[in-house]
Amino acid sequence: MKGIVLAGGTGTRLHPATLSINKQLLPVYDKPMIYYPVSVLMLAGIREILIISSPEHLDNYQRLFGTGEQFGLSFSYAIQPRPEGLAQAFLIGREFVGADSVALVLGDNLFFGSGMSEMLRKARARASGATVFAYHVDDPSAYGVVTLGPDGRPLRLVEKPVTPESPWAVTGLYFYDNQVLDIAAAVTPSARGELEITSVNEAYLERGQLHVERMSRGYAWLDTGTHDSLLEAAEFVVACLEEIAYLQGFIGKEQLIARGKLFAKTAYGQNLLKLAQEDQTGRLVR
Ligand code: TTP
Repeated sequence: MKGIVLAGGTGTRLHPATLSINKQLLPVYDKPMIYYPVSVLMLAGIREILIISSPEHLDNYQRLFGTGEQFGLSFSYAIQPRPEGLAQAFLIGREFVGADSVALVLGDNLFFGSGMSEMLRKARARASGATVFAYHVDDPSAYGVVTLGPDGRPLRLVEKPVTPESPWAVTGLYFYDNQVLDIAAAVTPSARGELEITSVNEAYLERGQLHVERMSRGYAWLDTGTHDSLLEAAEFVVACLEEIAYLQGFIGKEQLIARGKLFAKTAYGQNLLKLAQEDQTGRLVR
């Protein structure tokens, strides 16, 4: 399975902080925001990742991640000329996805929860169809909203409903089989001129191939599009990519130590060095 991080957009709700910098490069406490969605793909076991961003910002991501080998990953990069919708990721990423299945995550979406790895593995293991994740929110009108039947199956999807009939917002993490390439290519722009991801999900719903996983109270989903939500997110301090890479077996102890030394003046780097001294059970090895 391939992974795509969509990290373009205009970030108008974060002006003036995003006048000269792309939103997903802003720090969430001690690391760039994009680390969080990348960590989600890594937890799903995905190692080939395409970063899509705007023409003026893509080279910043190339400087940030390079080839990805420091995390045992392989990064590719592509430009989205204008923010014309989430579904455009599959037109831009068509060649990258090839004949594989693909997970898309939005660059400003943060997920936390102890059952995360298990939930992601389950979505990944599903051979066909699509899996989206629904989160219970107080004001669903800003999101794609899914109505669920008594058995948990999706009945309807509505993009930004004025009067939502369900509290379940569709989050910015989507798993698709290879059909998504053709489905997205057939989507026509909405009234606001965007290729909507909701249209893609509707196509799967019509085929009876849309799975909705509810993220229960044990999870936190934060989208960091506003100053308040960005501040709130900064209070969660996880998503250490080197740590995930090490625990997933993508990199070895020597690489972990090298990265720890690179950031030795920070708590982030010191934590990597500490991790290198622990055994599997989390005890310090002397
Ligand atoms: P949005 O929050 O809808 O848009 P934005 O990031 O431009 O912010 P604002 O509303 O403040 O102007 O985007 C959600 C995520 O998707 C965000 O990570 C940016 C990304 N995105 C793209 O990369 N390309 C696109 O065409 C769109 C619509 C969004």
